[in-house]
Amino acid sequence: MTYLIPDVSDQAALELDNSLRIGRGNKRDCYVHPNDAGQCIKVARHPERYAECQEQSIVEWFYLNHLKERHVPLTHVVDCYGWVNTRQGPGLALERVQEDDGRSALTLREALHKGQVSRSQLVRMLAVLKHWATRYSVVISDLNTDNLMVRPGDDDNDAILVLVDGFGSRKPDWKFTLYQRCLPFSRIKTQRQWKRQEVTLFDTVDEICA
Ligand SMILES: Nc1ncnc2c1ncn2[C@@H]1O[C@H](COP(=O)(O)OP(=O)(O)O)[C@@H](O)[C@H]1O
Ligand SMILES: [Mg+2]
Repeated sequence: MTYLIPDVSDQAALELDNSLRIGRGNKRDCYVHPNDAGQCIKVARHPERYAECQEQSIVEWFYLNHLKERHVPLTHVVDCYGWVNTRQGPGLALERVQEDDGRSALTLREALHKGQVSRSQLVRMLAVLKHWATRYSVVISDLNTDNLMVRPGDDDNDAILVLVDGFGSRKPDWKFTLYQRCLPFSRIKTQRQWKRQEVTLFDTVDEICA
């Protein structure tokens, strides 16, 4: 199975200027969709490493479609709408994680910095995420404070952790195909790796909260 980006060059290229940028990772920049504030667009950050920068977007596109086909509730991920043409090349359009008033939601790192999520709340929120990932055999490959965003809760409920990166697989390779075809294997992988990923995550959390 090869995983490719569809040709979107016939679409008018969207202009993503700096004022629309809401996030920056090592490989991708994330912008508010210029025509729909409910969506964001992820594009490759380094043109000279274009293919490598697009790998995770390709994984997200195929994996989110795979989860939707299996009717997995998208509680801890965002919906994915497809590829759009931009001045920076093809970009993946996804649901944007927002606060109730439309502002950008915080990453877990930002929420911890601002004291909006406490360590004990985070322990509970991670248990909920783990339960969902195990129940639906969702592979989590890179659990960290920048790949998790905080979807606000209400008076009765804790906020929810949303994975915006680092799930499905690290690369769109044969292992990625296996994770989609062999769900018991994916579930075992998630369970086995959870503890190690959580320990690394809490190393960062404790640095932020120190
Ligand atoms: N769906 C989203 N809604 C709102 N902001 C997002 C969304 N996805 C990513 N971001 C923001 O963009 C940043 C970089 O995105 P990410 O997918 O982690 O890129 P990279 O693959 O380069 O690490 C995130 O840390 C977050 O701040
Ligand atoms: Mg990231």
